[in-house]
Amino acid sequence: MDKIRIGVIGCGNISDIYLTNLRELESLEVVAVADLNHEKAVEKANKYGIDLVLGVDELLDDDAIDLVLNLTIPAAHAEISLRVIEAGKHVYSEKPLAITLEDGRKVLAKAEEKGLLVGSAPDTFLGGGLQTCKKLIQDGAIGEPIAATAFMMGHGPESWHPDPEFFYRAGAGPMFDMGPYYLSVLINLIGPVQRLTGSTRVTSPERTITSEPKYGQKIKVETPTHVAGILDFENGAIGTLITSFDVWGSKTHFIEIYGTKGSLSVPDPNTFGGQVLLRKPGEVEWSEIAITHGSIDNSRGIGVIDMVDALKNRRPHRANGELAYHILETMHGIHESSIKGEHYRMTSTCRQPEALPSEITK
Ligand SMILES: NC(=O)c1ccc[n+]([C@@H]2O[C@H](COP(=O)([O-])OP(=O)(O)OC[C@H]3O[C@@H](n4cnc5c(N)ncnc54)[C@H](O)[C@@H]3O)[C@@H](O)[C@H]2O)c1
Repeated sequence: MDKIRIGVIGCGNISDIYLTNLRELESLEVVAVADLNHEKAVEKANKYGIDLVLGVDELLDDDAIDLVLNLTIPAAHAEISLRVIEAGKHVYSEKPLAITLEDGRKVLAKAEEKGLLVGSAPDTFLGGGLQTCKKLIQDGAIGEPIAATAFMMGHGPESWHPDPEFFYRAGAGPMFDMGPYYLSVLINLIGPVQRLTGSTRVTSPERTITSEPKYGQKIKVETPTHVAGILDFENGAIGTLITSFDVWGSKTHFIEIYGTKGSLSVPDPNTFGGQVLLRKPGEVEWSEIAITHGSIDNSRGIGVIDMVDALKNRRPHRANGELAYHILETMHGIHESSIKGEHYRMTSTCRQPEALPSEITK
């Protein structure tokens, strides 16, 4: 099969790492870029040697493009993905799949109707660190997983991000911004979620920007900034997930998985490598486990490479729309449970992505 030809819509910050990692591959080629801001598309095309700079409509109309990488802002994800699918192309979107569950369902339904694939970030769970954890669990290193903890504890992005207001708008906050990393790992390692409860709070109705160039400006907070969820997984394991923009310091670890025969300390789910630690019954110290898989540096785009390989070999791809929708529903469910004061029962499920083989092909 010929190379899959990719068009990129959205040439902002994150596009650099995709365009770097998707260069010089046998299976695919980025042939065109587009952005609402044409200058940004021109800049990336020049930087990465891409011949075609198109308008969004032109890119969608281009029959030579098979798959579109949707790297626009979250509010535009669903609209762009729907247009891509309508144009008869596969789509791989940055996270989240959509802002609302309704839009997420529309994207999946339209793709199914047209016989096209939907992929979605994050793809960090395909990195060497997290695949090592997957292999350990599959090999029985901790026995049956019975519980997990996952913590994203910080004090928000207004101290470093130049434009931090959107993090405090509806559809953002710590869970929708960072939750996809944590949930994709928990679901990859444990399985889908069946039922959950959540508690959320807004700690401060107003935040002050301390980064430049907006130093001193105030942000009105419109979304919960401390979000805690208890997740009942389909296999009976119980997860505790907290994401916060309200915490000044914490010694909690990113993710730990507790099994009947040991505990696993999992690397930062927003990275591809990291340290994997195992502690077995009776041991007083954790042991570091050697990484068994490749892709430990910033490998954003590995989910696209896997999707292209899946297309060619007619097999399911790992960072897929079904998983992304399950993650989106889990995040909405935690907020809804808190508002209603009752458990939220998931309506979606997903398959656990297959483990990657130890040798990773690019
Ligand atoms: N920046 C990061 O470190 C980072 C990390 C992980 C994930 N992401 C995700 O990547 C996505 C993009 O983030 P970013 O930081 O690159 O944002 P950005 O604002 O730097 O870039 C987004 C680009 O999309 C373009 N755009 C917006 N709406 C469009 C539309 N309707 N049609 C065409 N172009 C459109 C904008 O002009 C802009 O150039 C987000 O979903 C974000 O959550 C970003």
